[in-house]
Amino acid sequence: MSIYQEIILEHYRHPKNYGEIKNPTKKIKLTNPLCGDRIEMMIKLVDNIIVEIKFQGQGCAISQAASSLLTDYAKGKSKEKLKKLDREFMIKLLGIDLGPNRIKCALLPLEALKKLLI
Ligand code: FES
Repeated sequence: MSIYQEIILEHYRHPKNYGEIKNPTKKIKLTNPLCGDRIEMMIKLVDNIIVEIKFQGQGCAISQAASSLLTDYAKGKSKEKLKKLDREFMIKLLGIDLGPNRIKCALLPLEALKKLLI
């Protein structure tokens, strides 16, 4: 197993920022239409900086690990900086090559985050 696969499994088993925020600034629920997996993400914003971010839901190892890694990255960052994140960023964050179906799993948390930043 590669180091990246191990990191993904570790985040899947022990996701960071899993749970709920009391009184979030915004929250959103999204479903991956291909598999029905769901993610709920919520943020607390202060002066356009994400001071708290959490997610919950059911999903495959890739979507859960991507949510864990992305929420960790987003904490403490500005809305403007996070709005620029794209598909390439998610691939780098996960560190593995993803096929056309699996990439949707990785992009689900990014889509959720982007909608929260609108
Ligand atoms: Fe459903 Fe990955 S298989 S999000």
